[in-house]
Amino acid sequence: MKRTLMLLLLVGSSGAYAADTTPAQLQARWTATAGTTPSPARGQQFFSTTHGGEWSCASCHGAVPTADGKHASTGKRIAPLAPAYNPRALTDTAKVDKWFRRNCKDVLSRECTAAEKADVLSWLNSIK
Ligand code: HEC
Repeated sequence: MKRTLMLLLLVGSSGAYAADTTPAQLQARWTATAGTTPSPARGQQFFSTTHGGEWSCASCHGAVPTADGKHASTGKRIAPLAPAYNPRALTDTAKVDKWFRRNCKDVLSRECTAAEKADVLSWLNSIK
């Protein structure tokens, strides 16, 4: 009984974080869905420009997300998106899916396509 409680507490304190994928696997998954070759240059362009709204991805994550970003409206700190600068970035499928959905709606007023996600990932993964 006590042991179960301890385990629950341990799981709880580690948050919802679950390293169940890698940035390369995510890129491969969306590349396969899109059926196109991802382009890092297109990904960077997509990331740093606005798409009809007020914000771009860079508004919160920074133009090159190798350092902490800052939420454009709340000012909350955001960990670097580039995997080379943040070993936890892009390693939790549920987290990545959730934030892509939410952030794309904020920036494009729609969900991102698999091709767009593959482009962005290929760029993020190429940042050294
Ligand atoms: C209004 C602010 C904001 C904008 C604009 C924004 N994001 Fe985010 N994004 C966040 C926050 C906050 C998180 C969660 C950070 C955390 O908890 O580590 C996040 C997380 C993410 C994650 C998951 C990171 C991880 O650790 O795996 C991805 C991927 C992502 N954003 C991509 C994008 C893309 C692509 C765009 C542009 C379409 C974008 N974001 C625009 C605020 C923003």
